[in-house]
Amino acid sequence: MEATNLLYRDPALYDLLQSDSTGAEMCQALIESHRPDARTLVDFGCGTGRDLEILAKCFECIGVDLQPGMVDYAHQARPGLDVRIGDMRTVRLGKRMDVVTCIGNSLAYVHDNNEISQVFATFAAHARPDAPLVLCSPVAPITRSEPNTATVDTPRGPATVTIRHEWDLRTQINTMHRHWVLPSGDEARDEIRRRVLFPRELERCANDAGFEILDMTDGRGAGPIGPTAYPLARYMSSVIQG
Ligand SMILES: C[S@@+](CC[C@H](N)C(=O)[O-])C[C@H]1O[C@@H](n2cnc3c(N)ncnc32)[C@H](O)[C@@H]1O
Repeated sequence: MEATNLLYRDPALYDLLQSDSTGAEMCQALIESHRPDARTLVDFGCGTGRDLEILAKCFECIGVDLQPGMVDYAHQARPGLDVRIGDMRTVRLGKRMDVVTCIGNSLAYVHDNNEISQVFATFAAHARPDAPLVLCSPVAPITRSEPNTATVDTPRGPATVTIRHEWDLRTQINTMHRHWVLPSGDEARDEIRRRVLFPRELERCANDAGFEILDMTDGRGAGPIGPTAYPLARYMSSVIQG
């Protein structure tokens, strides 16, 4: 993954380009609607800790991410946060939290059905009874194939990025191809492959791990959902094994 996403090689730029995202606020509103008494939170696939920093104003947080480069950057940029290297398919922190989150499309980077089930098992292993699970994930593909060009401001000047999407129904992977023209004039290409889990598939994965889906809204807190949704689930206490 590190090799294919330009922004993962430059976490500071990743942070800058995501700075207008409202994912953490959306997540917080969903948590408050279900568990206003929640105190502890674990975020899987926390990246640079950008959202975690906002959530940490309300909760005692732990963040987990697969990529050492993102975690190193989080430690430097946000030294007050507890961010750890870990793979959400397998990591076990040895504690259950009031809230589990996996936002910013992190779940979509796990493509294989069995591995997605493993991730939901990880969510379950860290959830206290009745804990909300908040996701932000693609639930429908972007099928528009015409490229779209935008200018983005970077610390070194304006860059342009041309984005084209590709949808493979067989694998349910939506690939975003990006062509960057950097302020130096250098060009770079990267691609981001995200697995789409349609709403009923997501519901099945959640149910199998002991969660029930309570709600599935779009980023503005209303329907209709798609291509990205914020599913809110609840961990059913009766299934806790130990
Ligand atoms: C698009 S970024 C989102 C980061 C953060 N949640 C945000 O919204 O800014 C996706 C993140 O998921 C992480 N990731 C992908 N697969 C993972 C896995 N198996 N375990 C933990 N983190 C993973 C990547 O390293 C990356 O930092």
